[in-house]
Amino acid sequence: MTQPQRDAFTSTFGVLVATLGSAVGLGNIWKFPSLTGSNGGAGFLLVYLLATLLVGLPVMIVETMLGRAARANAVTTFAQVAPPGQRWWTSIGWMGFAAALLILAFYSEVAGWVYAYIFKAMSGEIATTDPKIAGAVFSALVSDPLSSLVWQWIVLAVTGSIIMLGVAKGIEAVARKLMPLLFILLLVLCARSLTLPGAMPGLSFLFSPDFSKITPAVLLTALGLAFFKLSIGMGTMLTYGSYFRADQNIPLTTARVMLADLSVSLLAGIAIFPAVFAFGFEPAAGPSLVFMTIPAVFTAMPGGTFFMTIFFVLTAIASVGAMLSLLEVPVAILAERYGLGRKRAALYTIFMVALLGAPAALSSSLAADWTVFALKPFDLFDFLSSNILLPLGGILICLFVGWVYGLPELEKQLSNGGKLHNRTLVRTVFFLVRYLTPLSIAAVLLHGLGVF
Ligand code: TRP
Repeated sequence: MTQPQRDAFTSTFGVLVATLGSAVGLGNIWKFPSLTGSNGGAGFLLVYLLATLLVGLPVMIVETMLGRAARANAVTTFAQVAPPGQRWWTSIGWMGFAAALLILAFYSEVAGWVYAYIFKAMSGEIATTDPKIAGAVFSALVSDPLSSLVWQWIVLAVTGSIIMLGVAKGIEAVARKLMPLLFILLLVLCARSLTLPGAMPGLSFLFSPDFSKITPAVLLTALGLAFFKLSIGMGTMLTYGSYFRADQNIPLTTARVMLADLSVSLLAGIAIFPAVFAFGFEPAAGPSLVFMTIPAVFTAMPGGTFFMTIFFVLTAIASVGAMLSLLEVPVAILAERYGLGRKRAALYTIFMVALLGAPAALSSSLAADWTVFALKPFDLFDFLSSNILLPLGGILICLFVGWVYGLPELEKQLSNGGKLHNRTLVRTVFFLVRYLTPLSIAAVLLHGLGVF
């Protein structure tokens, strides 16, 4: 097997931006608000913050570290760093392969809705603050089998061509320039939402916790969101870590990405929930929440149609960065392990996602009755990936680093061979991933699934 010359990020800043490009996406704009709304608000937010800090960050640090240490894809990495005779650790990489396909299957559908909403914003069809009209427009889109499928295919064609044309770097350069704009638009939305009459209940929904609403299932959902948001538990950060420079400060970079990512989510929450209560939307509406509320806030401000269109364009661009990082896991595995070449590896991956994605896209129409554990394909893929595969991947990565890889190697990698003086930090991370983090993930996972 010939190893192609590996691409690497060229600057410290470039690494930060690319990693942020993976983290920030529909997870912030769509998943975070939908889940916060349907899981009771502030209590969920609190658990999600704790999960991000205590579980997400340590996993993100060690996962990135492993990729940089081995400089290989998610499967090959474990084949290299695991001791001889312990090949089974490579199953973490294959689990990541499966998780990537499952996530892409529903992610590409949500991205399809975003693309569709760009045109609905331009036509003025969604310029309404009336929950009934907004809901009807959304249901019309998702319950039409043909348009659901076609929008998903358009998303896959766009993302696939970016990978195959090898223009990902160009796109990321564009995204880097445009993301500050998304941030500013979110700030404007927050200002408008907060000054709507009747906005206060929305703020207290988001910030004053009702602890009785924190059930085991809510805990698991918050944990799953923490993994999903940071792109961890399935090899994305591992694969990105393999492109990190040797002198990159991993703990610092990951902590910065985490903070930036959290602030985007919080802004999205503050833009949405005051408006939900002010206009009489249903906070627990689920996946449709964002698609109804965001247009309503824009409608309530001057130049609404114009800014709404820009907002959906920027969200579509943000989703590209996240999807590229998801695709990178299977593509790197197929290309490097089977010598396929990136183009063909990308083509095969896109094809698998289209197959798996069809039932997800048809979840509100033709495939609405294809339920497993009462979950439609769309929700099943989301649940299986975020709430099971990612936490499981997280546990295994922690156990590997804590019990097999060991402290001396971890210290060498995280201190960049002794150049960074961060001994206490490294020891804290080691203690967390050896004991606390895998135990808490396991407890939340088993409890959330009702095992005990
Ligand atoms: N974090 C991205 C978002 O919030 C989605 C994503 C990209 C992802 N890569 C991932 C989720 C890897 C889980 C694992 O939109």
